[in-house]
Amino acid sequence: MSPLLEIDHVTVTFGGPSLLDRVLRREAAPLVAVDDVSLSVPAGGAVGIVGESGSGKSTLMRTVLGLHAPDAGEIRFRGAPLRPKRDLATRRAMQMVFQDPGTTLNPALTVGATLEELLRVHQVVPAAQVDSRVKQLLDLVHLPSAVREARPARLSGGQKQRVAIARALALEPELIVADEATSALDVVVQASVLDLLAELRSTTQVTLVCISHDLDLVRYLCDTAVVMRRGRVVEQGDVGALFAVPSDPYTAELIAAAPSLARTTEQDLV
Ligand SMILES: Nc1ncnc2c1ncn2[C@@H]1O[C@H](COP(=O)(O)OP(=O)(O)OP(=O)(O)O)[C@@H](O)[C@H]1O
Ligand SMILES: [Mg+2]
Repeated sequence: MSPLLEIDHVTVTFGGPSLLDRVLRREAAPLVAVDDVSLSVPAGGAVGIVGESGSGKSTLMRTVLGLHAPDAGEIRFRGAPLRPKRDLATRRAMQMVFQDPGTTLNPALTVGATLEELLRVHQVVPAAQVDSRVKQLLDLVHLPSAVREARPARLSGGQKQRVAIARALALEPELIVADEATSALDVVVQASVLDLLAELRSTTQVTLVCISHDLDLVRYLCDTAVVMRRGRVVEQGDVGALFAVPSDPYTAELIAAAPSLARTTEQDLV
């Protein structure tokens, strides 16, 4: 599979000396949130990014989406270098789904109005097809048609996350980045949203990048995993091999801290 996304020696820093620091000749080292990271995401593939809090997972993918500018390195999408300033088509091609959909959905709009507006503004389909496309999108994420008339406050956490996924899909992206997209949900709902993401992979051929603390989730949904620590990639490879026989001690530590995965991995090895 040819890569859809290539991250090539990317470094992202925050801060550094302010004007006052410079005047007072104070030292203020910038924080290196992403440190010389390279990875490749094949078209149609699913890559999981794992690692402790603050390891730079979100910053890396926010940089891919153009929300931060890299200090060094290059990001290529379909082989072409991405600039922080993008045209509309490139922005549409990459969508992010966040942990807490409650904060990203407009509370004043019904689900239907949210999706309709998006389809109209981006002219995804001709005006006459907006209505049927909204129906299709709700079907695609398995939401009942009654949800169309509901405002976000009336929806459950799982339903809100399905709306957030429908909103991302409305723009017909090639890449969806799910950043802890199921972490705020209870276990049963989490599993159903995971199943939905797995299903969408095969029905829409969308490429997925999943950022998660949950190694089980990554193992279930992804083909390859990337382990990050302190802004750097410590290990990457096929999920099965990586979690069964980690070559980096930090990956082994992460696995040991994830009880169910540690159990299955031991069983697999017996
Ligand atoms: N906008 C910002 N300004 C300054 N520092 C930031 C900013 N965003 C992130 N950081 C810092 O960059 C580092 C990496 O943060 P990031 O959010 O990418 O980690 P993460 O791996 O996604 O963590 P988590 O698992 O908790 O979401 C952290 O030290 C964080 O405090
Ligand atoms: Mg994060």
